Order: sequence, then C-alpha cells, then structure tokens
Amino acid sequence: MSSITPIITVDGPSGCGKGTLSVFLAKKLGWHLLDSGALYRVLSLAAKLHAVRLDNHSALEVLGQHLDVCFEFDENTNVIHAVLEGQDITHEIRTESCGSDASKIAAIPGVRKALFERQRAFLESPGLIADGRDMGTVIFPEAQLKLFLDADPAIRAKRRFNQLQAMGVNANLDDLFLEINQRDIRDRQRTISPLVPAEDAIIIDTSNLSIEEVVARSMALVGGVFPDVLMNQKKRTGG
Ligand code: DC
Repeated sequence: MSSITPIITVDGPSGCGKGTLSVFLAKKLGWHLLDSGALYRVLSLAAKLHAVRLDNHSALEVLGQHLDVCFEFDENTNVIHAVLEGQDITHEIRTESCGSDASKIAAIPGVRKALFERQRAFLESPGLIADGRDMGTVIFPEAQLKLFLDADPAIRAKRRFNQLQAMGVNANLDDLFLEINQRDIRDRQRTISPLVPAEDAIIIDTSNLSIEEVVARSMALVGGVFPDVLMNQKKRTGG
C-alpha cells in the first residue's frame, strides 16, 4: 500500500526555505509532514539529558533506537511541537548549538541507521512531505517529486537570524554565518548520506526568491506531477 502513497521530498541546507515550503505543502495538500532534521536535533538533546558524549557512537546509536519522541503539528501557528520523554522541547531544539550537535551526530552511520525506519514510518496515506538532507537520495528514493532548495550562505544566515528572532531565540548574525558554513561543510562532505541533490531532483535557487515565489514554483511542479491531487484539493476548498 505504502508504495503508492505519494511523496514529495524537500532537501537542502539550513536556511534555504525548505522548512517553510514543507509546512505550506503539507497544509495545502493535507499530507503528513516529516521534519527529519528535528529528529537529529532531538537525539542530540537526548544525548545531553542522558549525559551521552557526542563521540560515544554506540551509545548514541542505542539512544536513537529507543528515542521516546513524538511530533505534533499546530495548524494555527505552523509550529511542529517536539515532545521528548513527555517534555515539550520545541524551543530547546531550535538553537544553533543544537543544530550544530545534530549535524555532528548525523555523520555517524549507526545513528542514521537507527533513525531510518522511524523516518520511513511517516509514510502514510494520503501522502508525505519529507524535509531534510537525504530524503530524496536515501530515505525516500522512490519519491515522485524531489525538490532541492539552495541559496547563498549569507542570505541563509540572514533568514535564520530573522527566524530565530521571531521565535524569541537570541542570535548573532556573524556567528550564524560561520556556523552555517561549518554545518554546510560537515553535511555536504560526510561520507554517509551527504547533502547532495538526488539525480532526479529539481533544484531551486531561492537566493533571490521570496517564499511566495518558491511556493508558486513548487506548486507548479506539484501540479505537473500530481494533477489529480491538486484537482481534488480545489474541489475540497471550492478554489
Ligand atoms: O534541518 P535542520 O537544520 O533541522 O537539521 C539539523 C542537522 O541535522 C543538519 O545540520 C544535518 C542533520 N540532518 C541530516 O543529517 N539529515 C537529515 N535528513 C536532516 C538533518
């Protein structure tokens, strides 16, 4: 059954707009949403809580296998709430230091293996929007539409800065720029599941595009690949 469930993957580096686009698409189409980066972030926070060092690969792998986490999407605020062992940690996982720790543990093969099935389990009818780094290459290679968003690092740093400010998280633009570059290098150059576009991905450079323009381009692509989905969606909303 799951082999025919439609999937759109949205991959790209931090701050390219993929999170905003993914939330938009999930809401518009009424599909499920996987924010895979949040899983790596939650695991890095769980490691801290359980005093597991980031260089203890086997302990991180076990922690990943038993991670007690759930995600709840708030339709009103567009925020995906993360609950770890009963505690709401939505804000804690959004800091740059958590992003940087997530990127470090994401380079460990055992960790990626531990989180593989958990990510696949998000694939449920009527469809899935999967946001991450390796969604189109490794986790959902069968996806019918693969988008890869990219943007100039300075622009991504500024966007992250604005996002964090809006969330009430303190940030420094120069530090963010440095951290984004370090994270890019780590994510793009790691040996396992590096951040690269899938061969059949459509690349959208969002450097000079507003989010509305990114959404419009993506929706045109969605309409081309899933004409029935958009037709049904129009009927439901009377659009
Ligand atoms: O998308 P994000 O900034 O929340 O992701 C945090 C880190 O997690 C990112 O720097 C690398 C890692 N990650 C990954 O390796 N694979 C994914 N599919 C998603 C995130």
